[in-house]
Amino acid sequence: MTTLVIGGTGTTGSLLVPLLPDAVVGTRKPVRPGQVRFDWDVPATFDGALDGVQSVYLIPPVGVVDPAPVVESFLSRARSVRRVVLLSSSAVPESATGMGALPALVRAMPEWAVLRPSWFMQNFTGDHPVAAGVRSGEIVTATGDGRVGFIDAADIAAVAARALTDPVPHNTDHLITGPEALSYADAAAIITDLTGRAVRHRSVSTAEMTDRIALAVPAEFAALLAGLDEDIRGGAEDRVTTTVEDVTGRPARSFRAFFQDHLSRS
Ligand SMILES: NC(=O)c1ccc[n+]([C@@H]2O[C@H](COP(=O)([O-])OP(=O)(O)OC[C@H]3O[C@@H](n4cnc5c(N)ncnc54)[C@H](OP(=O)(O)O)[C@@H]3O)[C@@H](O)[C@H]2O)c1
Repeated sequence: MTTLVIGGTGTTGSLLVPLLPDAVVGTRKPVRPGQVRFDWDVPATFDGALDGVQSVYLIPPVGVVDPAPVVESFLSRARSVRRVVLLSSSAVPESATGMGALPALVRAMPEWAVLRPSWFMQNFTGDHPVAAGVRSGEIVTATGDGRVGFIDAADIAAVAARALTDPVPHNTDHLITGPEALSYADAAAIITDLTGRAVRHRSVSTAEMTDRIALAVPAEFAALLAGLDEDIRGGAEDRVTTTVEDVTGRPARSFRAFFQDHLSRS
């Protein structure tokens, strides 16, 4: 069964591809065998990417205020596709438009799953602003003492692989967290302990966080992102689920184990 992995070069998709028997990576710039041109901004790429495909790992268009129309158009062309697994987010509530409208589109497919992961542990490594804070010694958020069930993207990929290949379709939403809820200060303390280099967390107001984020992204989007920090401050992400173990048979990786592994690779 051929699976089109949209975002197959990205954080979760690149970890998912090796777990699938027959994956095709959808990318804007295909350069090697097993990759096909796919661009949310170029609907003419949809049919070619869907050719011979029975299932799709769907990462929505990045930075689009209302991705529902283009995702709906894509799915309407996916006539050979039986199963779609959507990467959504624990922080995105259902809504009539915007990211929150996507689960309803996917649930209309014959077989489906909606993944709702909490915040990625990978935000502490790589290009993310939190990772820049780790490198500089100060992580700045508006999350206060709020805790988050940080999740390793490898565990999200493992759940996605099962949702895409299990003979019985999951046809459900999976709320996915790591094994413990940590504040950013807790995470910084773990990093300090593992690296021997001081990393602290500084919490600022939502307004200040909006201004900081707006240096890099449009103001409207900055307010949305800072609002998610405020939600964390209010406890919205202070929860732990057993989804990874329930679906894959093994427990989710801890933040300490994740970061230790990251250090051993870098
Ligand atoms: N970070 C978090 O803490 C967090 C938490 C919960 C949910 N999420 C959700 O995770 C999603 C991101 O997933 P990810 O981290 O696995 O991906 P990612 O690392 O952000 O990678 C995004 C991928 O999208 C592809 N891409 C970019 N623009 C594209 C376009 N116009 N058409 C087609 N593909 C395009 C890129 O591929 P090419 O460059 O090869 O084209 C890239 O592989 C977001 O929807 C976010 O809401 C994130």
